[in-house]
Amino acid sequence: MLGIPRLRGAGAAIRPKDPHAAIDPVGRGPISDCTQRSIAMAEVNLLARLPRVRRNLTARAEAKNPEVIAVSRKFGQEYFDGPREYGYGGYRYDGRWIPIAEDIVAHFGLKSGDRILDVGCAKGFLVKDLMKVCPGLEAFGIDISEYALMHCEPEVVGRLHLGSCEHLPFPSGSFNAVVSINTIHNQDRPGVIRALKEIQRLAGGKAYVQVDSYHSEEQRRLFLDWVLTANFHDYPDGWRKVFAEAGYTGDYYWTVVE
Ligand SMILES: C[S@@+](CC[C@H](N)C(=O)[O-])C[C@H]1O[C@@H](n2cnc3c(N)ncnc32)[C@H](O)[C@@H]1O
Repeated sequence: MLGIPRLRGAGAAIRPKDPHAAIDPVGRGPISDCTQRSIAMAEVNLLARLPRVRRNLTARAEAKNPEVIAVSRKFGQEYFDGPREYGYGGYRYDGRWIPIAEDIVAHFGLKSGDRILDVGCAKGFLVKDLMKVCPGLEAFGIDISEYALMHCEPEVVGRLHLGSCEHLPFPSGSFNAVVSINTIHNQDRPGVIRALKEIQRLAGGKAYVQVDSYHSEEQRRLFLDWVLTANFHDYPDGWRKVFAEAGYTGDYYWTVVE
């Protein structure tokens, strides 16, 4: 089939012309401070400036089997730094998260002394870049992968916790923002709801999750050929039901294979 698809974190990217002013996608105009941002959840793409990744879907579909999936789901060396069929095929810092960190800081109005948590932080690339673009910001991460944490960036040593998104071992309301990118969909539906409730508990609506989704049967088929680790995925409307069920009032966007 279709050779090399693109993984779209963005789609019709809802991006502010001024990167320091978020856009309300339902047409209420620019939102410039974090107080306004927390009024209602919004579909907004905070990964719009992440370079598009081209992926060889044919190779993935051919290599995929229950053994490969089982190994990938351990989120160990093979998933991050092993052969491409098990996951990333080499997960290395290259600075690509810096623009995303800038947009997250602007979107949530974060400043020195504030605290942000990245749920599913892997090796801490985003945690590192959040602190780089906003000096004095206290950024932390949590991830289920001991391998990732043991191979983290030197700047984030001690800032990354080992644990699951379903149970975030921090006091309620203890973060100014929580982000979780391409992580919570690794749980089953009840687990996704538990994770969203936890994210909501830590930061109220000042949160952003990005999850696997699709807008058409064709995109769904491409996704099913590509996916290794996601346990729950759905069309946007299905996800919105899950958000509502969890009482999640933060922002969100979709990762779409196309
Ligand atoms: C696709 S990677 C995304 C990593 C990073 N957020 C990014 O966008 O580059 C998924 C991450 O979620 C982590 N993960 C998987 N299940 C998890 C869970 N139950 N709780 C926390 N992290 C989990 C994996 O170890 C991995 O680091």
